Amino acid sequence: MKQQTAPYQCHLFICTKSRNGERKSCGDSTNPQLKTLLKEEISKRGWKPRVRISDSGCLGLCDAGPNLIIYPQKIWYSEVTPADLPEILQTIENLLESGTEPMR
Ligand code: FES
Repeated sequence: MKQQTAPYQCHLFICTKSRNGERKSCGDSTNPQLKTLLKEEISKRGWKPRVRISDSGCLGLCDAGPNLIIYPQKIWYSEVTPADLPEILQTIENLLESGTEPMR
């Protein structure tokens, strides 16, 4: 095993867990455009080397979903919709400007 410093200042995880309607889960209610729109904005703003967005499995707060988290800053967004995009992007911009370093 090799340990290394996280290469991103902000790593966004979007919960995509689906239970096919058997129980509330983010993947059943997340707008599929959300990740695409975020990726486009991250790329357009030139943040790509410092910001990464990934799908995640269940984050444990299913009833509050759809959930999106930003690490290492430990920021959680729940009940996320594409309408929340401007606020999420502003948060990322603020984090990048504050010079938050990746976890060591
Ligand atoms: S299904 Fe998303 S937090 Fe559990």
